[in-house]
Amino acid sequence: MAPATSWKEVTRDGEAARFEEFATVLGGLQRRQPALGRALHHKPNLGVEAALEVLPGLSTEAAQGMFATPRTYRAVVRYSNGAPRRQSDARPDVRGIAVKVLGVDGKKVIPGLEDATTQDFLAIRTSRVPVRDATEFLALVQAATSPALLPFKLIGALGLGRAVQVLRAALPGLTAPQSPLAATTYFSALPIAWGPYAVQFSLAADDPPAPHKVRREGQLGEDLTVRLRERAVTYAFRIRFFEDERTTPIEDASVEWGSAWQTVGRLTLPVQDATSARGRALDAWVESLSFDPWHARAEHRPLGNMMRARNVAYRASTQARGAAAEPTAFPTL
Ligand code: HEM
Repeated sequence: MAPATSWKEVTRDGEAARFEEFATVLGGLQRRQPALGRALHHKPNLGVEAALEVLPGLSTEAAQGMFATPRTYRAVVRYSNGAPRRQSDARPDVRGIAVKVLGVDGKKVIPGLEDATTQDFLAIRTSRVPVRDATEFLALVQAATSPALLPFKLIGALGLGRAVQVLRAALPGLTAPQSPLAATTYFSALPIAWGPYAVQFSLAADDPPAPHKVRREGQLGEDLTVRLRERAVTYAFRIRFFEDERTTPIEDASVEWGSAWQTVGRLTLPVQDATSARGRALDAWVESLSFDPWHARAEHRPLGNMMRARNVAYRASTQARGAAAEPTAFPTL
């Protein structure tokens, strides 16, 4: 099916106030940590240097926003575990990748940051989320703060029937065999605008999946460090288009989109030594930044209920932890 421009967002009465409450709840989790850091994706695996290439010869539909013109941008990447606390890499968790592309022109969406020159892409290793919207997401995050009580807390928040559905949908993603970060494929799991169209994006690892046992704290970042000393790591940047509300819904995040992926770019982590003085300085710089799906060109505006909730939550979290201002250039290290 051809990409459609008939997508639309449906905002609910009172949702803005609810999103403020969600950000406050996440702020409570953030303050519980011994070291003030991110409210979610608290623990970094590694921060590294990267480059994002926009491929030549894209279709008219695909050549939108920063993908309209082929070129290569400098970027940085932060890999993370999803939990709101530091915990061993061996524990089941969401795994995240956050890409900040530098030197991106065009008007940005956050008021006051219109002239920023960054475009962020945040993704996790499941292609959809187990929840429909931000209300269910918050219920799951809150229930997961005490794993032993998780099912009971979720039933309390969502009712028995829906809690069972959410748990069934969440478990495969959390317990799927862990590949090295270099061999993990990531998904936005939520839509963004793509000029007049809407898409989900994904970073598909060129390394084949290689399930391996993660046994200890810090192993995910250490394995990537070893790998990057020897060989570059690459991911295909792919998009899949909105087609219709039934097969590619904008507001219901729990539905796997049915449209086909097409590759529009390539993310490359060049050979680098993360343990060198430069590598450590870069890692510290990446950690100080804020990665936010709303750091986006107007043509790539985030869409849907959960994305609108993120528009409040990320700013609250980054302000509380005193994150660095949006960078204007790659630092001299
Ligand atoms: C499927 C959707 C989502 C994805 C793919 C995603 C991904 C990520 C990633 C990769 C990070 C780490 C960013 C970094 O490395 O700095 C992050 C952080 C965070 N996420 Fe999400 N997330 C999602 C949904 C949400 C929702 C619905 C909320 C809340 C309403 C939320 C709140 C946060 C917060 C508060 C942070 C920490 C921000 C900071 O202090 O920098 N996320 N998310």
